[in-house]
Amino acid sequence: MKKIFITVAFIGIWTLGLKAQLPVYLDENQQIENRIEDALSRMTLDEKIAVIHAQSKFSSPGVKRLGFPDLWTDDGPHGVRPDVLWDEWEQAGQTNDSCVAFPALTCLAASWNPEMSALYGESLAEEALYRNKNVMLGPGVNIYRTPLCGRNFEYMGEDPFLASQMVVPYVKGLQSKGVASCVKHYALNNDEEYRHQVNVIVSERALHEIYLPAFKAAVTEGGAWSIMGAYNLYKNQHNCHNDIMLNKILKQDWQFDGVVVSDWGGCHDTEEAIKNGLDLEFGSWTDGLTMGATNAYDQYYLALAYKKLIKEGKYTTKELDEKVRRVLRLFFRTTMNRNRPMGFLCSESHYEAALKIATEGIVLLKNDNNILPISNGKRILVVGENAIKMMTVGGGSSSLKVQKEILPLDGIRTRFDKSTVEYARGYVGDTVQSYNGVTVGRSLYESRSESQLTQEAVDKARVADVVIFIGGLNKSDYQDCEGHDRKQYGLPYNQDKLIEALAAANPNIVVVNISGNSVAMPWINKVPSVVQAWYLGSESGEAIASVLSGDVNPSGKLPFTWYSDLNQCGAHFTGSYPGVWRPAHDIIDEEYKEDIFVGYRFTDKNKLKPLFPFGHGLSYTTFEISEPKADKNIMTENDKINISVTIKNTGKVSGSEVLQLYISDLQSSVIRPVKELKGFQKVYLTPGETREITFSIDKSALSFYDDKTHSWTAEKGKFSAFIGLSAGEIGKAVKFELK
Ligand code: BGC
Repeated sequence: MKKIFITVAFIGIWTLGLKAQLPVYLDENQQIENRIEDALSRMTLDEKIAVIHAQSKFSSPGVKRLGFPDLWTDDGPHGVRPDVLWDEWEQAGQTNDSCVAFPALTCLAASWNPEMSALYGESLAEEALYRNKNVMLGPGVNIYRTPLCGRNFEYMGEDPFLASQMVVPYVKGLQSKGVASCVKHYALNNDEEYRHQVNVIVSERALHEIYLPAFKAAVTEGGAWSIMGAYNLYKNQHNCHNDIMLNKILKQDWQFDGVVVSDWGGCHDTEEAIKNGLDLEFGSWTDGLTMGATNAYDQYYLALAYKKLIKEGKYTTKELDEKVRRVLRLFFRTTMNRNRPMGFLCSESHYEAALKIATEGIVLLKNDNNILPISNGKRILVVGENAIKMMTVGGGSSSLKVQKEILPLDGIRTRFDKSTVEYARGYVGDTVQSYNGVTVGRSLYESRSESQLTQEAVDKARVADVVIFIGGLNKSDYQDCEGHDRKQYGLPYNQDKLIEALAAANPNIVVVNISGNSVAMPWINKVPSVVQAWYLGSESGEAIASVLSGDVNPSGKLPFTWYSDLNQCGAHFTGSYPGVWRPAHDIIDEEYKEDIFVGYRFTDKNKLKPLFPFGHGLSYTTFEISEPKADKNIMTENDKINISVTIKNTGKVSGSEVLQLYISDLQSSVIRPVKELKGFQKVYLTPGETREITFSIDKSALSFYDDKTHSWTAEKGKFSAFIGLSAGEIGKAVKFELK
């Protein structure tokens, strides 16, 4: 008996001992959190202060003593920006930083295809990994509020649902490879002019319904590891250290566990930065290399000034530790992530991705008499500066240094028989072809006068079978460019006059507009065909030629409403853009008087017919859609309702169409938009093919933001659902009731 007892006791003690020694398997996140706490407990005050601000234009230090490498950020969002000098914006002249330029984000949004976003994010991450960039500064999801905004080309259009659906796969794709996405510019950075001084006044409802959803989706669904505060102010506080935006909405409500990075030079105050949620300061002006210690990175708001306040006892390290924890978490997700794959630059797969996204985003706006596609053997005249101008250089921080960029004229010449393609310059726009030291070899110098250029183009147009005018905006100041807004809605450089002259000389004219914004088209009725081509990146010319020739059937859809004139746009109609100067504070108050009525929500409400509606885009084939059917007509609180249509390709070529689901609230205690996009699906169909497409919606698609309860509410009552091909072509309604 005694023997048994001793044996059992021995086994018991042995097992307990073994248990104590067995490794405890914590989930990966918990392990990282433990390592963060461990590292934090070992860091000195100086090391903690060091990791929360920059050490060069684009990098911040790691903690070398503990094995954490430096953190390198880079723009973003269309490719990996060339390396710059340590303290300057000028490119450093490296030989390994020529990249692939992907199409601008407006083009990505115009693809209405979330698979393209995933492809974009993954491809960009591979380029970033090769260059050892740990944080990509993008994507941008500020809402397209006015077509004058110089930076719309970097954003994803006017609709919060579309932008949300498109941003999530981009973020996930990028981060799946261990590269952090830094979603920007949070928030309300909807115009560029006076971007450091604009104080946005907007209703809580518009903030939540229009301006925040894409950021929220990037954080809560995409799991973004960092976010960039915007330059402008909200409630008189800069967004890089804004209590409501950062502490309340981002960190408390959305439970964001990543790093808030200041926009470059967006931090203005040490104590606000300490208290109001900024974690990592970048770009406050400095040049320690040439100016010495008095102007080095130690002078940042979150550097010596912060340390001093801690030393004086005004702050404990509570806020500092919280910032450092987030930065360390970012290290573990990026630089310390041992599972990060190898990167590669300028691979065939990246060019393929750039081309695919570009061709999916090009929008055929108008095509009377099926003038497009252009068949082989036609005598083609190409006119316009944008046919020969590189668009990957310029525009501000998204400017790139590319390994190649196929120009539209070259793409067209390669695709069609070279001997049948003539060129005439037509107009001179901006001949500058350099940005921050990246200079593009080709000279755009032109000595002839405007009338000589017009004459040449018109003469050549008379003897051509088809004229392709390639113009639009470019990346120069006051066009599609950071730092300023456009000064006018119309095309620059007298292009309208030239287009009219060409159309009079030859009615078979196609206008290819290259821009990130809509423009006035006073000549629209004189031109049978218009293609919206965006900034398409490295494969620009090939993408344009493949659509013009019909090798690719266009399937892009406008991610914004194309107004006939600025009065159709709420921000301008209400006179609220660009705001009212408050000289004593050097601030411009910009009240978003149109409230939630942005884009089609405004034109719908005021029964205005835009030039082209949101979601519009033609194809070389035709589609027929059946009337929508719902699987029930009564929906309860936690229920779903399925709405279906069948779509048939009734034309002669294969092609894709985007089915768009819009919802109208028919009984509401608050004013609601006439309809809102709540679902879309891109479908590829061969001739004669039919497919049934179903949208499943829950009450989130019926909700509005109630600023009395500060929450989303779906009110009981009747709703209509429409499935159409654009906001201007919505088809028949199917009605249902929320009980
Ligand atoms: C821009 C950011 C950019 C940063 C770094 C700022 O001026 O607003 O979008 O990421 O510079 O280049």
